[in-house]
Amino acid sequence: MKISIYLILIVVTFLPLISCVYHELEAPSSSPITDASLFEEINAAGFEYYQGGAILTPASASPHGIFRLRFNEEALSSLDATGELPVGGTFAEGSVIVKEVYQNNALYAYAVLKKAPSDVNAGNGWLWSEFGPDGSSLFSIAAKGNGCISCHDDLPNRDFVRTFDLH
Ligand code: HEC
Repeated sequence: MKISIYLILIVVTFLPLISCVYHELEAPSSSPITDASLFEEINAAGFEYYQGGAILTPASASPHGIFRLRFNEEALSSLDATGELPVGGTFAEGSVIVKEVYQNNALYAYAVLKKAPSDVNAGNGWLWSEFGPDGSSLFSIAAKGNGCISCHDDLPNRDFVRTFDLH
């Protein structure tokens, strides 16, 4: 009898503590992606350039200007031996694609896609954003790709990415 009272006391004392620790452990994975955290991410290590860093001239259907494209490790893991996403393929969750747009030989803007299908700001499975070179937000992820997707779902596209079929 005494033992079970002690047991109950112990459980009652430690349960809040345990649930507290559990919540702390949970927190990082559910922390929301912001424009600022995404800008940090595109400046992290581990990116590789498409076609060896060639400067590409936009297809006539593109509003972005001359550009170079780079992929983070998750995105690279989705590409085939030719460096392209296979037709009908999809990018792995966490993939980041950075389009560096140039004007007069200087970096002018970043257009960014991040694959995060369960994020509240996802549009067609991606976060859509644009930044100035200093990280200022030109197009927030909160806009959910409104104005981007209508073009990026034009055919041909591969998981809403246009470059592989145009360059
Ligand atoms: C008028 C059509 C159009 C609109 C609007 C548009 N894009 Fe694009 N985008 C393109 C095309 C076409 C490409 C392929 C590369 C090229 O030729 O410029 C591209 C390429 C990209 C890329 C490189 C990956 C890929 O798909 O090839 C990113 C990142 C990107 N766009 C982001 C955006 C974002 C963010 C917006 C909205 C703020 C946006 N785009 C709006 C047409 C568009």
